[in-house]
Amino acid sequence: MRIAVTGASGFCGGEVARLAAASGAEVLCVGRRPGPVGRHVRWDAATETPDLAGADVVVHLAAAVGDPRRGAEDAFRAVNVDGARRLLDAAAGRPVVWVSSASVYRPGPYAAALTEDHPIQAQRTAYGRTKAAGEKLALAAGAVVLRPRAVYGDADPHLMPRLRRIVRGGRAWLPGPDVTLSLTDVRNLADACLTAPGWPAGAYNITDGVAYRRDEIVSSVLGVPVRHVPVAAVRALAAVAGLRPSPVLTRYTIDQVTEGMVLDISRAKAQGWKPRYTLTPSG
Ligand SMILES: NC(=O)c1ccc[n+]([C@@H]2O[C@H](COP(=O)([O-])OP(=O)(O)OC[C@H]3O[C@@H](n4cnc5c(N)ncnc54)[C@H](OP(=O)(O)O)[C@@H]3O)[C@@H](O)[C@H]2O)c1
Repeated sequence: MRIAVTGASGFCGGEVARLAAASGAEVLCVGRRPGPVGRHVRWDAATETPDLAGADVVVHLAAAVGDPRRGAEDAFRAVNVDGARRLLDAAAGRPVVWVSSASVYRPGPYAAALTEDHPIQAQRTAYGRTKAAGEKLALAAGAVVLRPRAVYGDADPHLMPRLRRIVRGGRAWLPGPDVTLSLTDVRNLADACLTAPGWPAGAYNITDGVAYRRDEIVSSVLGVPVRHVPVAAVRALAAVAGLRPSPVLTRYTIDQVTEGMVLDISRAKAQGWKPRYTLTPSG
């Protein structure tokens, strides 16, 4: 089995590439930079069509990720939508596992756990909008689309580093009241990516299968008590901070920690997949 993994130089794609190699597959890491294993096939998603020659299966994780500064939506679209189209063309009928995101769902509040039928609309960020447009193409092309939420793990470059920076004076200052939310261990996502090629085309939520209490998790992971600050005040600060590179709290991060988004993973479980890992805070 030869598996092409895009985004293998990144956090989630690297985990997928390592797991694929460990399970005996030949891995092609398709992207601008090499992955942790396998052969590198150069591809800039913003401008080029990838060379997928020899691949039996394609797992697509490359994406422009995060919360771009104002005016950067075109750059996100070039990768997450136009690059997506070029990848699907190159896949030419090969099975494609497409890693999307729970950011495509219509923002909360949510009355219950979200199934894959929750509306895909009104995303607040360029990331959410362009991921939604990309996965629409993938679904139309018959791909298996996975929707993880807030992926964490040892080399997480996004969520946990930002969370660590909210600690001030021995307290973690979190926007809004405590909520219940889903998280996805990167090892669960990688496992799902390599299991999913046999699943019927369509969208599947992928999480740890646990509804975590935000404050408990953050307090345990960061080792400090949680204090709450008003969401509106934090959003206003983030809007100003968004004018600078690398703000501590972006709209994207605020959504991740304030929206009580729990994903229903029954559809993936019905395919025989089960999350094997949950967050075990070390304190
Ligand atoms: N992390 C999360 O919480 C989370 C949650 C839900 C969904 N996801 C999805 O998971 C996937 C991977 O995210 P991640 O957290 O692993 O992000 P990441 O660490 O930032 O990795 C992004 C990957 O995309 C590649 N990429 C970006 N622009 C590219 C371009 N123009 N051409 C080719 N490759 C390009 C990067 O390559 P370079 O090394 O060249 O930059 C990198 O390999 C994404 O599709 C994301 O939407 C992530």
